[in-house]
Amino acid sequence: MRIDKYICDTINITRSQAKRLISAGRVLADNVKAKSPALQIDENTCTVQLDGKTLKYSRYIYIMMNKPKGVLSATMDRHAMTALDLIDQKDRYSDLFIAGRLDKDSTGFLLITNDGAFAHDLLSPKRHVNKTYEVLLSHDDFYGYEQAFKKGIVLDDGYVCKPAVFTALTECRCIIKIYEGKFHQIKRMFKSLGNEVVNLKRIAMGDVSLDPCLKEGEYRRLTDEEYELFLNEINKNNL
Ligand code: URA
Repeated sequence: MRIDKYICDTINITRSQAKRLISAGRVLADNVKAKSPALQIDENTCTVQLDGKTLKYSRYIYIMMNKPKGVLSATMDRHAMTALDLIDQKDRYSDLFIAGRLDKDSTGFLLITNDGAFAHDLLSPKRHVNKTYEVLLSHDDFYGYEQAFKKGIVLDDGYVCKPAVFTALTECRCIIKIYEGKFHQIKRMFKSLGNEVVNLKRIAMGDVSLDPCLKEGEYRRLTDEEYELFLNEINKNNL
């Protein structure tokens, strides 16, 4: 691939910005100053440095955000603040989208990426990648809940949910793990049991947990290990 494209993809700058870096002599390819933006390199083997710092080629970006309440799981909206509005300019790749939405009043783990194939595989209903939520309910009479979730809750439209794992905590709180993603699923499941969701926070997707250091509204890139965990999840459930 061309070295200017490599730089654009990796640090999210425009072609002309990349060309300027190259003509200023700030870019090395395998320890040799790159003289032309058209220089062909192998992105898998070439060591590219910018101002002495080695770049790691990545066409895609994977972001873990702790979504706050009141923010839409959308790329843009004319009225409300969206999750993408919370992303810094330097990370705002043009083709970012939300992989697995949360309701406006829900908080927690939002995955944002520009890797369509990855998101498609991860979210495919056939793959049953689980999602875990911490829920605050209006009352804590949880009698029979564990069994009911195990058996499959029947939603208001007659849909029978896949078995889910319910764990009671204290003071009207519980953890629920589901293996599918129907519209407003958690709220509707508890409604079927005569309870009401007061607060809903997604705390994990598959084996990847929301980073407890992320305050609401903050985000960071997935680590290589987290990305691998998602890939394992996709491959484990390969069709
Ligand atoms: N289920 C819901 O009801 N809301 C969410 O935001 C996520 C799952």
